[in-house]
Amino acid sequence: MNNIVDEIKKLKEERNAVILAHYYVDGAIQDIADYLGDSYYLSKIAVDCPQDVIVFAGVEFMGESAKLLSPNKTVLMPDSEADCPMAHMVDEYFIARMREKYEDLCVVCYINSTAEIKTMADVCVTSSNAKRIVEALPNKNILFIPDQNLGKHIAKIIPDKNFVFCNGYCPTHYRIKVEDIQKAKQLHPGAPVLIHPECRPECVALADYAGSTSGIIDYATNDQEHDEFIVVTEVGVIHEMEKRNPGKKFYPATDKLICPNMKKNTLEKIRDCLKNNTNQVILDDEFMVKAKKPLERMHELAK
Ligand code: 13P
Ligand code: SF4
Repeated sequence: MNNIVDEIKKLKEERNAVILAHYYVDGAIQDIADYLGDSYYLSKIAVDCPQDVIVFAGVEFMGESAKLLSPNKTVLMPDSEADCPMAHMVDEYFIARMREKYEDLCVVCYINSTAEIKTMADVCVTSSNAKRIVEALPNKNILFIPDQNLGKHIAKIIPDKNFVFCNGYCPTHYRIKVEDIQKAKQLHPGAPVLIHPECRPECVALADYAGSTSGIIDYATNDQEHDEFIVVTEVGVIHEMEKRNPGKKFYPATDKLICPNMKKNTLEKIRDCLKNNTNQVILDDEFMVKAKKPLERMHELAK
């Protein structure tokens, strides 16, 4: 194990590279990452970090967003097949039809979307800034793509706007059902339920807190009243929760909450992409100009 960690360190120095990792990748990768965080934090780091090369231990839309925001950097993905199925779950004809139907429509696009979908959006959001950004928009009509569940969560918090959704969803968070949460509550009475808003609304309704991966980790860390928590998001977050809170216990609501795409990242693949300069994120120049606009607007509005 140490050998591969040393190899990665050496390659990072040689290539002036930085490793960004999302909380859903394996703990061994989280431990060697230079920056670990939620989607919004990592997209800010992609803009601000001074290195020439970014290795993104995450899924395709994260690497694409890093490239869009930092076009002069080389962005490498450890596994070129690590892709988020939800990122593709909206079609352009639906967006066009909604634009025709609502004159003042704002297309709000979850960062979990392909670069192509971003070219059709007005602004991007993540789960940690969606509320703030949608509230700041002057538009009454919001088309929230592609995640209907995050969209419905935000719509409930902002009742004075009219939201339209598509049918996108995260297949990992979709697996969790009301019965799973009820069972976990029976097993761990009194433990607060912390959930990601990518879960179904009826599950979110049962939670004590709903927020991004960073929000969930911070909530558990700041809670002085409880020492046990039920975690309803991809199990990878528990690694950081345990590190920050040695005295507290974290129970995943089920063993079904594993994102197969995030788990495609390995230390060996990180070493190999750095060594061979493989799996570079390449995007067409013209396409990039359009797709980066909603991301830049997100960063302006989220400040
Ligand atoms: P956040 O880390 O922004 O909460 O995103 C969760 C997620 O599903 C990433 O794919
Ligand atoms: Fe996509 Fe869900 Fe995996 Fe996140 S957890 S990358 S939203 S499939």
